[in-house]
Amino acid sequence: MIETQTSRIEIVPHDAALGASVSGVDLRDPLDDEALALIRAALAEHQVLFFRNQDLSAEEHLAFGAQFGELCADPVASLKGSLKRISYIEDTEERPPAEFPWHTDLSWLSEPPAFGILNARVIPDSGGDTIWVDLFSLYDALSPEVQQQVRGLKLRHRPKPHYFETVRVHHGDEITDRLIAENPPVEHPLVRSHPVSGRPALFLCPLYAEFITGLSAESSASLLASLVDHLDNPAFQVRWQWQEHDLVIWDEASTVHRALGDHYPRYRRMQRCAVSGSRPYFREDS
Ligand code: SIN
Repeated sequence: MIETQTSRIEIVPHDAALGASVSGVDLRDPLDDEALALIRAALAEHQVLFFRNQDLSAEEHLAFGAQFGELCADPVASLKGSLKRISYIEDTEERPPAEFPWHTDLSWLSEPPAFGILNARVIPDSGGDTIWVDLFSLYDALSPEVQQQVRGLKLRHRPKPHYFETVRVHHGDEITDRLIAENPPVEHPLVRSHPVSGRPALFLCPLYAEFITGLSAESSASLLASLVDHLDNPAFQVRWQWQEHDLVIWDEASTVHRALGDHYPRYRRMQRCAVSGSRPYFREDS
């Protein structure tokens, strides 16, 4: 049998709501069409793909990401005219881990990213795991009455004031004022049809959620709290214990994630890029 890139790839689903480990491929090499289609299909099916032993330079990381679509610029970097598409999450003794609550990246943009990609550069000897939640299963697990209630609702997304204050400290008034002016709060459907499969996902993002539009403040807060509660249920999660040079790619439309900060004060360094996405929508027949 002739060996091809595809014939060497092995995909093993995790014993969890989502996630699969992929082996037999060196992500420094370009993927041929068949291998790329296989990995895209696995990503659509399993939502998070884990690859061990992928020691990617920033350029190789970007080249890998670019096979999945146009790469996203960080909104602050683009206001500063930077073409940089790679960024780093660096936890040190002086700069503790951010420990953001559950989120899908940059959901406050009108077109949030489609995929996130992390490559672990330096990993502490313990702690610092990342957990992803399956927003398809979360929607499926709601009672028909609650599904009916949330379908068609819109959730307003916006960074917390602290984010803009931090940008102001680091980048000054002009950039911050433009960032705020160019990114007014955005409303996304609370139930989102997946852009590839059409499958409905509960598009929650506690980090950036303000309120559900059209409900009283109280009703919005209580409905959001009851939905957000489910994110902590391990039945909907996959948890990844990082090793150096792991690469993980995930679907931002059907997952939220959060990184634990229990490695503090030990050093952790991640290299990250994201692939651009489209405006979230909900279609009743999905
Ligand atoms: C994040 O987006 O919260 C970072 C994920 C990680 O560092 O594992």
